[in-house]
Amino acid sequence: MKCNVAKILESGTILQEVNLNGWVRTFRSNRFIALNDGSTIKNIQCVIDFENTSEETLKRITTGAAITIKGVLSESQGKGQSVEVQVSEIKILGDSNPDEYPIQPKKHSFEFLRENAHLRVRTNTFSAVMRVRSALSFGVHKYFQENGFNYVNTPIVTGSDAEGAGEMFRVTTFEDNKAPVNEEGEIDYTKDFFGKETNLTVSGQLEAETFAMALGKVYTFGPTFRAENSNTTRHLAEFWMIEPEVAFMDLDGNMDLSEDFIKSVLAYVLENCKDDLEFLDQRLTQEEKSKPQAERSEMSLLEKLHFVVDNNFKRVSYTEAIDILRNSKPNKKKKFKYLINEWGTDLQSEHERYLVEKHFKCPVILFDYPANIKAFYMRLNEDGKTVRAMDVLFPGIGEIVGGSQREERYDVLVEKIKAMGIDEKELWWYLDLRKFGTAVHSGFGLGFERLVLFATGMSNIRDVIPFPRTPQNAEF
Ligand code: 4AD
Ligand code: MG
Repeated sequence: MKCNVAKILESGTILQEVNLNGWVRTFRSNRFIALNDGSTIKNIQCVIDFENTSEETLKRITTGAAITIKGVLSESQGKGQSVEVQVSEIKILGDSNPDEYPIQPKKHSFEFLRENAHLRVRTNTFSAVMRVRSALSFGVHKYFQENGFNYVNTPIVTGSDAEGAGEMFRVTTFEDNKAPVNEEGEIDYTKDFFGKETNLTVSGQLEAETFAMALGKVYTFGPTFRAENSNTTRHLAEFWMIEPEVAFMDLDGNMDLSEDFIKSVLAYVLENCKDDLEFLDQRLTQEEKSKPQAERSEMSLLEKLHFVVDNNFKRVSYTEAIDILRNSKPNKKKKFKYLINEWGTDLQSEHERYLVEKHFKCPVILFDYPANIKAFYMRLNEDGKTVRAMDVLFPGIGEIVGGSQREERYDVLVEKIKAMGIDEKELWWYLDLRKFGTAVHSGFGLGFERLVLFATGMSNIRDVIPFPRTPQNAEF
């Protein structure tokens, strides 16, 4: 039976027969193969009996080649590993021409690796990131399933703009320049595939609400799409979002849920991805050394993760945050790109990061934002000018979660929809929830890649998703 490297190293049973498939990372002295099979960041050393191996086979053991070996696990004579495989049989399954293979056993830049995204997962850093990503997504399902939530799959093609921001990708079967037009000269979507204008979803929230108002506690975990032209290290045009939605829960419950959820998922990877996180911790420490002292992080990756799991998030109202920012050094010295002068301005990521990294030095939940900078569905407070919104802000990331208590009052919601210039007819089914058995309910959206960024200590969101989609880039 085939085994894998992770299991073998875990058991460490000497003299066991092993049967392994994998890829050659390095081959030195015509004897020692560092073999990796993706089950762990660790390679296993395979020692070739070169006297009994043909010249031709030895030549074909090159970096990147796929091989299968038989052998016996032995105590290692050399330094660097406690066990190794004494190989009795080796077969080359797939050659890898060393003159052409782009992934050489040396340090490659992340830019270069992005251009080779189909091969970059064969490097230590990317394989570690992708295993952590996988574990995080299991942690997400585990948390919700163990806490009584139902997983709901909301549609990817939608006719509504959940965030009302108009940053959507159109879905159509009209051929180029052949879209039919109506009497007003506008494109006639009634003749399109779905008989209406449709787009890729920006959020599953509106549909998730319909399920929460029947199943009580639900969550989505699926792809979302935003056609915003943001070329930053934190934005993707296609990203994965997790959106819990809970009936009979108010904003305080929502804040508790978001904090408990994030801590639980991070604790899960701390427990289950020790080798990968240790590797990523060291990688980050190395990277930090190349930065000027003032810009270096005070904590290592593992320290940061433990810090978040072990400490309470600070909860602060938008109004308090504005006061702090207005009186902050970078504001007074005009160091912010966008200066904070008055109540009501939207916060930029520089402000969010100041609050988290410099002022509070811990994750922060900001709540009760001005109504006019937030989406139409958020519950209006008694003051008539703020809504029950909440954003969770993280060090190095800025906003990681956006959520709210939803407006459950029919009349108030209709007013807001009208005031924001949204066609209320489009949202008839959403308004129905407020007509039939309405109740307080809340939820939030967590950008999965932003969580992966935080958990792995990577600095560019393009490096934590297998094949990033960003403006001007949809290769692979
Ligand atoms: O704050 P947002 O826009 O909230 C919503 O979409 C709500 N409907 C969620 C809800 O209440 N159910 O997005 C939620 C999160 C952000 O906090 C951020 O982490 C992530 O989604 N996000 C992005 N991640 C990567 N690339 C982008 N372009 C993102 N836009 C938002
Ligand atoms: Mg937001």
